[in-house]
Formats: sequence, C-alpha cells, structure tokens
Amino acid sequence: MDLKRSSLFLFGFVVLFVTIEANIADFDEYWLKRSEEAKQAANQSYQTDTSNVISHFNENVHSAMDGNNSTRRALGKYTGPCLATNPIDQCWRCQRNWARNRKRLADCGLGFGRHATGGKAGRIYKVTDSSDNDLVNPKPGTLRHAVIQPEPLWIIFTKSMFIRLSEELMITSNKTIDGRGVQVHIAYGAGLTMQFVNNVIIHNVRIHDIKAGSGGLIRDSVNHFGYRSKSDGDGISIFGSTNIWIDHVSMSNCQDGLIDAVQASTAITISNCHFTHHNEAMLFGASDSSSEDAIMQITVAFNHFGQGIIQRLPRVRWGFVHIVNNDYTHWLMYAIGGSQHPTILSQGNRFIAPPNAFAKEITKRDYAPESTWKNWVWKSQGDLMMNGAFFVQSGDPNHKFVSGADMISPKPGEFANKLTRFAGALNCILRKPC
Ligand SMILES: *[C@@H]1O[C@H](CO)[C@@H](O)[C@H](O)[C@H]1NC(C)=O
Ligand SMILES: *[C@@H]1O[C@H](CO)[C@@H](O)[C@H](O)[C@H]1NC(C)=O
Ligand SMILES: *[C@@H]1O[C@H](CO)[C@@H](O)[C@H](O)[C@H]1NC(C)=O
Ligand SMILES: *[C@@H]1O[C@H](CO)[C@@H](O)[C@H](O)[C@H]1NC(C)=O
Repeated sequence: MDLKRSSLFLFGFVVLFVTIEANIADFDEYWLKRSEEAKQAANQSYQTDTSNVISHFNENVHSAMDGNNSTRRALGKYTGPCLATNPIDQCWRCQRNWARNRKRLADCGLGFGRHATGGKAGRIYKVTDSSDNDLVNPKPGTLRHAVIQPEPLWIIFTKSMFIRLSEELMITSNKTIDGRGVQVHIAYGAGLTMQFVNNVIIHNVRIHDIKAGSGGLIRDSVNHFGYRSKSDGDGISIFGSTNIWIDHVSMSNCQDGLIDAVQASTAITISNCHFTHHNEAMLFGASDSSSEDAIMQITVAFNHFGQGIIQRLPRVRWGFVHIVNNDYTHWLMYAIGGSQHPTILSQGNRFIAPPNAFAKEITKRDYAPESTWKNWVWKSQGDLMMNGAFFVQSGDPNHKFVSGADMISPKPGEFANKLTRFAGALNCILRKPC
C-alpha cells in the first residue's frame, strides 16, 4: 500500500516537473532530495516582516548618496578616478588591492539576496580553459568542472575568454563566479542554470547571444549526472533556488529570457546589471498556476535597462518584487508587468518613456479585468517620470510594506542615473582601483 502510494507520489512529481519544464528528463532520487532541500531553504529565507529587509536596504541607499540631479546618462566611457556611486559598490570598489581581497564582495550584498556569500568559505578555483567539450567528465580547469564541485568555491579566470557552453551550465550551491580582472564572455552557446541550489553569486561577467541547448547527458554534481531535455535559451535560469545575487553582469540578446526566476525561487538580488538588446528580459514566475511562487522575494536595484530593451523589466507572478533606483532609459512595449496578483514596490527609479504614444505606460497587467487587478498592490514612490512615462498604481493605498511611519524612502528617481552609472561588467585592472 505504502509502496504504491509513494510510487504514485513519485510519478506525480515526474509529471509535475515535466509540465513545468524542469529539463530534468529523469527526476530520480537525487533530484528529489535536492528539490526537498531547496524547498526548505526557500521556506527558511522567507521574510514575513518585509519591513526589516526594506528599511535595511533604504537606509543604506540614503547614507551613501552625495546627490546629483542630472537627467541624462553620461555619454562615452568614464575615464576619471575610480568612483563608486551606490552603497553596494561603495562597500568593495575603488580599492587597489581588490584582487587579493576578492571575497570582500561577499559582504556587500543588499536586498533580499544579501545573505548570499557564494564561495566565500572555500578556496579560489582558477578557470584556465575556455573549452566545454565533455559534459559528463568535464576537464579540470574548465568552468563546468569548477561549478559541479561539492565544496564552496570562489571561481576566477586567469585570462580573458569566450566560453561557448555546449549545454546548460549546472551550477551547484556555495559558488561565486567572479570575472573581475579579465573579460569573460559566456556567449553563443547554452546558458547558466541554478536548479535547487542555495547560495550563489554571479559577478562581473558578460552573458550574451545564448541559445537553446539540445539536451543530453550532463553532470550536475561530482556524484551525479543525468539526462536533460532541451534548455530554453535563458541567459540565467534560477529554478527552485535561494540566496542568489547577480551583480555587475552585462546581458543581451538571449534566445529566451535574460534572467528567469521560477519554481519557488526566492531571496534574490539582481543589481548593477546592464541589460540591452533583448525582448523578454526578466520573468519572475513562469506559470499562472504555480502558486508556490508566492514565496518569491526579489530585489531589482541599480540596474540600467538600456538600448534595444522591449518588455518584462521584469514581468512578475505571485511574489513580491522591490524595484529600486534603476534607470529605465529604453523600452519598446512596457517596463513592469505581471499576472496573478504579484506585489510590486517601485521606488526611486527613473523611467524615460519611448517616443511611441502607445507605450508610455510603465505597467502592464495580463489575464485579469480591471475589477480584479485593482486589488493587486503595485506602488510607485519617488520614481522620476520622463517623456510622458506613467505608472498605473493599484491596490490598497494603505498597504503596509513596512512597519508604519518608520519607513525610510530610497533615493529619489533623480539620482537613478548616477546610482547606475557603472552598471554592467567592470573592466578591473590588477593593482589599480576597480
Ligand atoms: C514554511 O513551512 C511552515 C511549516 O511547514 C509552513 O507553516 C509555512 O507556511 C511555510 N512558509 C512559507 C512561506 O511557505
Ligand atoms: C552631477 O552630474 C554632472 C554631469 O554628470 C556633473 O558635471 C556634476 O559634477 C555632478 N554633481 C555632483 C554634485 O556630483
Ligand atoms: C532637480 O532639478 C530640478 C530643476 O533644476 C529642480 O526643480 C528639482 O527640485 C531638483 N531635484 C532635486 C532632487 O534636487
Ligand atoms: C553550503 O554551505 C553551507 C555552509 O557552509 C553548508 O551548510 C551547506 O551544506 C552547503 N551546501 C551544499 C549543497 O553543499
């Protein structure tokens, strides 16, 4: 009886995961264990009192600002002395010894993903080889060999390289991928996947022109490999994962999304990134029926949404997203969208609407009549609206994101330009302030 029930249960799992495109062709015991661990990690990181996270974040934004009211993005490449314009950067940037002190970064996260320390507890792993030929027994020195190791690792690169991934890169828990000091492009192949993992930092790499992988046998940890179905062609796919921080990454032109966070992923910060030339940039919650995504808490801060960006900046289902001090200089359709009553707090962003008179609205609600979405809590505070941009707010005007009047608001939208000035991958040079 029990056996029958448990095999039915397992079968249920297989069906469920296939329908939500986990890409795991064989959802075996190994994946069952990892998915259970991931669920626990997500549950433990969930903040029931969001006030702590938000006021922590906002205080930092305030204390770090010296103020500027420019409404244009700086033209050309900045060549002056090292300048760190937001509190995440001010925590580690502009120090000459950055290369000997790389792990300092792990103490600098803010927002919901701020507990991500990546490979801080481990040794440095040097990637020396850009190849990706053996997916089951990856060669030592390759990025794929680095990310499947069981222990915490701080992964760096000994030279500039283009890495064309043959199939999805399966990143395991407790890893930092740190491209500072060289130029690392992950491009023209498959993308990065974090599936049922906890605690990953991705920093200072360039991810572009990612294509769908055809699937096949892929090693996803030192003691397990399995058959995976076709991958979607996302730049970074966050699946059932917790404590993820993506910082100073430049992303463009991927076949599917730039960053997707699905299947009850949470405790995520996406900061200081530069997004260009892409249609559907960020999807948080892939399905209107995945109510597990209500656990999602994501911070999107200090990013620049630039040239050739079309929509989903981000598009959200179920969860809560704090969108703060980003610079939206381009979009073609809309900026922030969603369905299934996500909660959205937009603070201190700059929104410059496109010339198209029908695309001035920042927000877009899907699959719900106004009588329904009028109850979704979408708020704009201190955003700078330019060129006719407008944010349609909804929900209880007295909704408490934070505990009462103690809420400290972030820097006004006038500062978004300056705060995001160094968004994207940085060109850090050894022994010079970065
Ligand atoms: C976390 O787990 C507890 C115990 O199972 C449950 O009561 C609670 O609702 C869960 N929290 C979330 C956010 O899922
Ligand atoms: C504000 O930005 C402008 C243009 O980038 C610059 O010339 C000026 O010095 C800045 N002011 C402050 C107070 O940083
Ligand atoms: C920015 O400049 C405009 C025009 O010069 C002024 O009206 C506005 O108050 C300024 N805002 C801030 C935050 O300094
Ligand atoms: C990651 O590191 C933490 C803390 O060192 C440890 O408890 C956890 O088991 C590690 N996770 C994995 C999957 O190895």
